[in-house]
Amino acid sequence: MKRVITFGTFDVFHVGHLRILERARSYGDYLIVGVSSDSLNVSKKGRHAVYSQEERREIVSALRVVDQTFYEESLEKKREYLEAYAADVLVMGDDWAGRFDEFKNICEVIYLPRTPAISTTAIIESIKR
Ligand code: CTP
Repeated sequence: MKRVITFGTFDVFHVGHLRILERARSYGDYLIVGVSSDSLNVSKKGRHAVYSQEERREIVSALRVVDQTFYEESLEKKREYLEAYAADVLVMGDDWAGRFDEFKNICEVIYLPRTPAISTTAIIESIKR
């Protein structure tokens, strides 16, 4: 069985999120998703998520293509998570291209193109307007 892992905030869940999770799952048989904790999200994006970590994790966990979830508490713990969850493949959106190549000695590292023209930030901005 091939185990795939990916990470993200998945706030204000949108079709770009769904597509990357579906594509990530297609690289193996079991998909594990590290959902950014509220505090990691603030340090990463400089703003509070609209949905709480519990809500974001509940939504991601309910998807047919997702087998397991956990909270990602720190970007510094990537290697620990990859080892703890015995990941064979790490999938990330290409906004992170090259940033995780250091893990190629423990798993396959794949960057997938983002779905164009949609993001949580863009949705929040368009609702504000
Ligand atoms: N993602 C994607 N296509 C998009 C938006 C996001 O493939 N249009 C992917 C990201 O590359 C990442 C995952 O979805 O692997 C989670 O991304 P996240 O940062 O939670 O979502 P964004 O919409 O990019 O959020 P923000 O605008 O707050 O940065």
